[in-house]
Amino acid sequence: MSYVPASDRYQQMQYNRCGKSGLLLPAISLGLWHNFGSVDVFENGRNMVRRAFDRGVTHFDLANNYGPKPGSAEENFGRMLKKDFSGYLRDELIISTKAGYLMWPGPYGEWGSRKYLMASLNQSLKRMGLEYVDIFYSHRPDPNTPLEETMMALDAAVRQGKALYVGISNYQAEEAKRAIEILKDLGTPCLIHQPKYSMFVRWVEEGLLDVLEEHGVGCIPFSPLAQGMLTDRYLKGIPEDSRAAKSHGFLKTTEITEERLSQIQRLNEIAKQRGQSLAQMALTWLLKDKRITSVLIGASSVEQLDNNLDALQNLHFTQDELSSIESILK
Ligand SMILES: NC(=O)c1ccc[n+]([C@@H]2O[C@H](COP(=O)([O-])OP(=O)(O)OC[C@H]3O[C@@H](n4cnc5c(N)ncnc54)[C@H](OP(=O)(O)O)[C@@H]3O)[C@@H](O)[C@H]2O)c1
Repeated sequence: MSYVPASDRYQQMQYNRCGKSGLLLPAISLGLWHNFGSVDVFENGRNMVRRAFDRGVTHFDLANNYGPKPGSAEENFGRMLKKDFSGYLRDELIISTKAGYLMWPGPYGEWGSRKYLMASLNQSLKRMGLEYVDIFYSHRPDPNTPLEETMMALDAAVRQGKALYVGISNYQAEEAKRAIEILKDLGTPCLIHQPKYSMFVRWVEEGLLDVLEEHGVGCIPFSPLAQGMLTDRYLKGIPEDSRAAKSHGFLKTTEITEERLSQIQRLNEIAKQRGQSLAQMALTWLLKDKRITSVLIGASSVEQLDNNLDALQNLHFTQDELSSIESILK
């Protein structure tokens, strides 16, 4: 049966302005890093994308290398777009992709040269069957390419009509500031920064968030659930179907230490007292900061996705809860 999106989808979601731009993003966005590749079940991914859209998630995040195999998440997403989101629905979606990590052999297959970025974006558009992406990112800073060159490539992507907005990811505060200033001079403002940020990874609090606020740039933290550690996933061991158990998963079992587990258990108790799952609490804990535009989650099932989206029902923290969380995270 052909897909008809839920008619009440926009009543279900909160939309936040991305920095000082004209673009609104859903408070929760869905990333296709894991669980959407050629090793995964296509229909499961398709169900998650449909369900997300039915619940007001308009933003889907990809990168050239998502898979495995690299490129296959974009190919699969392209198939989903063709099957379920053809025609006018494209205008209701914010689709992002990135280039920066290794994609093909030789000197032009990774990092930040204009050659690589432009070639990669062309490949991404082809794989997804799109005329343009909404956001094109430099996936990581390149210490050996002038920042100006990388930013000029982003600017060119917009001028060529291949991207509507540009962003940066994994840039530290100082280099983010320089990139934002270069882009401003070029006439293509930086829309958004995508850093790793969760209760367990907090470097962005030491300067980056201030830079973004000062320059009117949005922020979309990735791995807000610490790849599943900030959920009930590992409370009773390592499930066979979990990211940590998969050979291609980026979460290593060595990261799930006794100390981490003890923190997870104590955080889980606070979440319970709030009437939330730990995943929900971890997401709302990030969203309490108004500088956070959207949190970029991953999921391996519709149930997980639903659980995460229900987080928006309780966004409030008491001072006591915040202090208890801080004392666990110290
Ligand atoms: N810019 C970058 O360099 C960069 C890097 C990494 C990620 N990203 C982006 O950020 C997105 C999200 O990253 P992520 O997948 O690491 O995010 P995450 O939300 O921290 O982790 C997602 C994983 O957590 C588990 N999970 C999610 N919801 C759950 C729930 N309610 N209950 C129990 N377990 C739950 C699932 O693990 P199982 O699979 O084990 O079920 C899921 O695959 C990516 O898809 C990508 O778009 C960007």
